[in-house]
Amino acid sequence: MDNVSEIAAETEHAIEERARFTAMENGTREDWAIISRDYMAFAKDLPDRVLTHLKLLDGDFGGFPICRLEHSLQTATRAHRDGRDEAYVVMALLHDMGDTLGTYNHPEVAAAIIKPFVTEEVHWICQHHGAFQGYYYFHFLGMDRELREQFRGSPYFDACAEFCQKYDQAAFDPDYKSEPLEFFEPMVRRVMAKPLPKTFVRDEAA
Ligand SMILES: [Fe+2]
Ligand SMILES: [Fe+2]
Repeated sequence: MDNVSEIAAETEHAIEERARFTAMENGTREDWAIISRDYMAFAKDLPDRVLTHLKLLDGDFGGFPICRLEHSLQTATRAHRDGRDEAYVVMALLHDMGDTLGTYNHPEVAAAIIKPFVTEEVHWICQHHGAFQGYYYFHFLGMDRELREQFRGSPYFDACAEFCQKYDQAAFDPDYKSEPLEFFEPMVRRVMAKPLPKTFVRDEAA
Protein backbone atom coordinates (compact mmCIF):
# COMPACT_ATOMS: atom_id res chain seq x y z
CA MET A 1 0.00 0.00 0.00
CA ASP A 2 1.39 3.41 -0.89
CA ASN A 3 1.48 6.30 1.56
CA VAL A 4 -1.66 7.98 0.27
CA SER A 5 -3.83 4.87 0.48
CA GLU A 6 -2.32 4.10 3.90
CA ILE A 7 -3.32 7.53 5.18
CA ALA A 8 -6.76 7.20 3.57
CA ALA A 9 -7.28 3.82 5.22
CA GLU A 10 -6.15 5.19 8.57
CA THR A 11 -8.47 8.16 8.26
CA GLU A 12 -11.40 5.94 7.37
CA HIS A 13 -10.57 3.74 10.34
CA ALA A 14 -10.43 6.80 12.62
CA ILE A 15 -13.83 7.99 11.38
CA GLU A 16 -15.33 4.54 11.89
CA GLU A 17 -14.04 4.55 15.41
CA ARG A 18 -15.59 7.82 16.48
CA ALA A 19 -18.57 8.25 18.75
CA ARG A 20 -21.80 9.11 16.91
CA PHE A 21 -23.52 11.54 19.23
CA THR A 22 -23.90 15.20 18.35
CA ALA A 23 -24.70 16.13 21.97
CA MET A 24 -23.50 14.20 25.00
CA GLU A 25 -27.04 13.71 26.25
CA ASN A 26 -27.55 11.36 23.30
CA GLY A 27 -24.40 9.31 23.95
CA THR A 28 -24.43 5.52 24.18
CA ARG A 29 -22.36 2.88 25.93
CA GLU A 30 -20.74 2.08 22.53
CA ASP A 31 -19.78 5.73 22.03
CA TRP A 32 -18.13 5.80 25.43
CA ALA A 33 -16.31 2.52 24.83
CA ILE A 34 -14.65 4.15 21.81
CA ILE A 35 -13.83 7.34 23.69
CA SER A 36 -12.54 5.47 26.76
CA ARG A 37 -10.18 3.39 24.65
CA ASP A 38 -8.73 6.49 23.00
CA TYR A 39 -8.55 8.30 26.31
CA MET A 40 -6.48 5.53 27.90
CA ALA A 41 -3.94 5.74 25.09
CA PHE A 42 -3.87 9.54 25.35
CA ALA A 43 -3.49 9.48 29.14
CA LYS A 44 -0.55 7.07 28.89
CA ASP A 45 1.42 9.76 27.07
CA LEU A 46 0.90 12.41 29.76
CA PRO A 47 4.47 12.12 31.09
CA ASP A 48 5.81 12.80 27.59
CA ARG A 49 3.65 15.90 27.20
CA VAL A 50 4.72 17.12 30.64
CA LEU A 51 8.42 16.57 29.92
CA THR A 52 8.10 18.28 26.53
CA HIS A 53 6.48 21.30 28.18
CA LEU A 54 9.07 21.38 30.96
CA LYS A 55 11.79 21.65 28.33
CA LEU A 56 10.29 24.98 27.23
CA LEU A 57 11.97 26.42 30.34
CA ASP A 58 15.41 25.60 28.92
CA GLY A 59 17.40 28.79 28.29
CA ASP A 60 14.70 30.96 29.82
CA PHE A 61 16.66 33.04 32.34
CA GLY A 62 14.25 35.91 33.02
CA GLY A 63 17.16 37.74 34.69
CA PHE A 64 17.88 34.91 37.16
CA PRO A 65 21.43 33.50 37.58
CA ILE A 66 20.39 30.19 35.99
CA CYS A 67 17.64 29.31 33.51
CA ARG A 68 14.27 28.03 34.64
CA LEU A 69 14.98 24.45 33.58
CA GLU A 70 18.27 24.43 35.53
CA HIS A 71 16.41 25.85 38.53
CA SER A 72 13.86 23.05 38.23
CA LEU A 73 16.58 20.39 38.00
CA GLN A 74 18.45 21.92 40.93
CA THR A 75 15.32 22.08 43.08
CA ALA A 76 14.54 18.42 42.30
CA THR A 77 18.15 17.32 42.79
CA ARG A 78 18.35 19.01 46.19
CA ALA A 79 15.09 17.35 47.25
CA HIS A 80 16.26 13.95 45.97
CA ARG A 81 19.66 14.18 47.68
CA ASP A 82 17.87 15.13 50.87
CA GLY A 83 16.00 11.80 50.75
CA ARG A 84 12.56 12.97 49.60
CA ASP A 85 10.29 10.37 47.99
CA GLU A 86 9.62 10.23 44.25
CA ALA A 87 6.32 12.09 44.25
CA TYR A 88 7.91 14.94 46.20
CA VAL A 89 10.92 15.03 43.86
CA VAL A 90 8.64 15.10 40.82
CA MET A 91 6.70 17.98 42.37
CA ALA A 92 10.03 19.76 42.93
CA LEU A 93 10.97 19.16 39.30
CA LEU A 94 7.67 20.45 37.93
CA HIS A 95 6.82 23.18 40.44
CA ASP A 96 7.61 26.04 38.04
CA MET A 97 6.49 24.45 34.77
CA GLY A 98 3.47 26.78 34.71
CA ASP A 99 5.70 29.80 34.15
CA THR A 100 5.01 29.68 30.41
CA LEU A 101 1.21 29.72 30.40
CA GLY A 102 0.44 30.69 34.00
CA THR A 103 2.72 33.70 34.04
CA TYR A 104 0.71 35.40 36.80
CA ASN A 105 -0.23 32.26 38.76
CA HIS A 106 2.34 29.64 37.82
CA PRO A 107 2.12 27.51 41.03
CA GLU A 108 -1.50 26.62 40.27
CA VAL A 109 -0.64 25.21 36.85
CA ALA A 110 1.89 22.64 38.11
CA ALA A 111 -0.33 21.90 41.11
CA ALA A 112 -3.27 21.08 38.84
CA ILE A 113 -1.13 18.77 36.69
CA ILE A 114 0.33 16.78 39.60
CA LYS A 115 -2.85 16.74 41.72
CA PRO A 116 -4.10 13.24 40.69
CA PHE A 117 -0.74 11.66 41.52
CA VAL A 118 0.38 13.13 44.84
CA THR A 119 -0.79 13.48 48.42
CA GLU A 120 -2.82 16.47 49.53
CA GLU A 121 0.29 17.81 51.30
CA VAL A 122 2.55 17.64 48.25
CA HIS A 123 -0.19 19.22 46.14
CA TRP A 124 -0.64 22.00 48.70
CA ILE A 125 3.07 22.73 48.76
CA CYS A 126 3.11 23.09 44.97
CA GLN A 127 -0.03 25.21 44.83
CA HIS A 128 1.12 27.64 47.53
CA HIS A 129 4.87 27.80 46.98
CA GLY A 130 4.61 31.20 45.27
CA ALA A 131 3.45 33.00 48.41
CA PHE A 132 6.05 31.18 50.53
CA GLN A 133 8.85 31.84 48.08
CA GLY A 134 7.88 35.51 48.28
CA TYR A 135 9.27 35.58 51.83
CA TYR A 136 12.71 35.75 50.20
CA TYR A 137 12.08 38.63 47.78
CA PHE A 138 8.66 40.33 47.91
CA HIS A 139 10.07 43.08 50.17
CA PHE A 140 12.55 44.06 47.43
CA LEU A 141 9.61 44.74 45.13
CA GLY A 142 7.50 46.76 47.55
CA MET A 143 5.34 43.73 48.35
CA ASP A 144 4.51 41.96 51.60
CA ARG A 145 7.09 39.26 52.34
CA GLU A 146 4.80 37.91 55.05
CA LEU A 147 2.06 37.09 52.53
CA ARG A 148 2.45 33.42 53.50
CA GLU A 149 1.16 34.25 56.98
CA GLN A 150 -2.41 34.07 55.65
CA PHE A 151 -1.83 30.30 55.50
CA ARG A 152 -0.42 29.95 59.05
CA GLY A 153 -3.44 27.87 60.11
CA SER A 154 -2.84 25.22 57.43
CA PRO A 155 -1.46 21.84 58.53
CA TYR A 156 0.89 22.15 55.55
CA PHE A 157 2.34 25.58 56.37
CA ASP A 158 5.61 24.24 57.77
CA ALA A 159 6.04 21.71 54.94
CA CYS A 160 5.66 24.44 52.33
CA ALA A 161 8.02 26.79 54.19
CA GLU A 162 10.54 23.93 54.35
CA PHE A 163 10.24 23.21 50.61
CA CYS A 164 11.01 26.82 49.77
CA GLN A 165 13.77 27.20 52.36
CA LYS A 166 15.66 23.99 51.63
CA TYR A 167 15.07 23.45 47.92
CA ASP A 168 13.34 26.22 45.95
CA GLN A 169 14.92 29.47 47.15
CA ALA A 170 18.26 27.64 47.43
CA ALA A 171 18.24 26.43 43.82
CA PHE A 172 19.86 29.32 41.95
CA ASP A 173 23.52 28.30 42.26
CA PRO A 174 25.27 28.16 38.86
CA ASP A 175 28.04 25.97 40.38
CA TYR A 176 25.71 23.31 41.78
CA LYS A 177 25.92 20.01 39.88
CA SER A 178 22.34 18.90 39.30
CA GLU A 179 21.21 15.61 37.87
CA PRO A 180 20.13 15.89 34.20
CA LEU A 181 16.48 15.71 33.14
CA GLU A 182 17.02 12.08 31.98
CA PHE A 183 17.71 11.14 35.61
CA PHE A 184 14.22 12.29 36.62
CA GLU A 185 12.30 11.01 33.59
CA PRO A 186 11.68 7.49 34.98
CA MET A 187 10.39 9.09 38.20
CA VAL A 188 7.96 11.29 36.27
CA ARG A 189 6.74 8.21 34.37
CA ARG A 190 6.28 6.16 37.55
CA VAL A 191 4.53 8.92 39.50
CA MET A 192 2.22 9.77 36.59
CA ALA A 193 1.53 6.15 35.59
CA LYS A 194 -1.76 6.01 37.44
CA PRO A 195 -3.90 8.50 39.38
CA LEU A 196 -4.29 7.85 43.09
CA PRO A 197 -7.69 6.36 44.05
CA LYS A 198 -8.85 9.70 45.56
CA THR A 199 -9.14 11.23 42.07
CA PHE A 200 -12.55 9.94 41.06
CA VAL A 201 -14.38 9.76 44.36
CA ARG A 202 -16.78 12.32 45.71
CA ASP A 203 -15.16 15.02 47.84
CA GLU A 204 -17.57 15.20 50.77
CA ALA A 205 -16.07 18.56 51.78
CA ALA A 206 -16.97 20.11 48.42
FE1 LIG B 1 7.71 29.13 41.55
FE1 LIG C 1 11.11 27.71 41.86
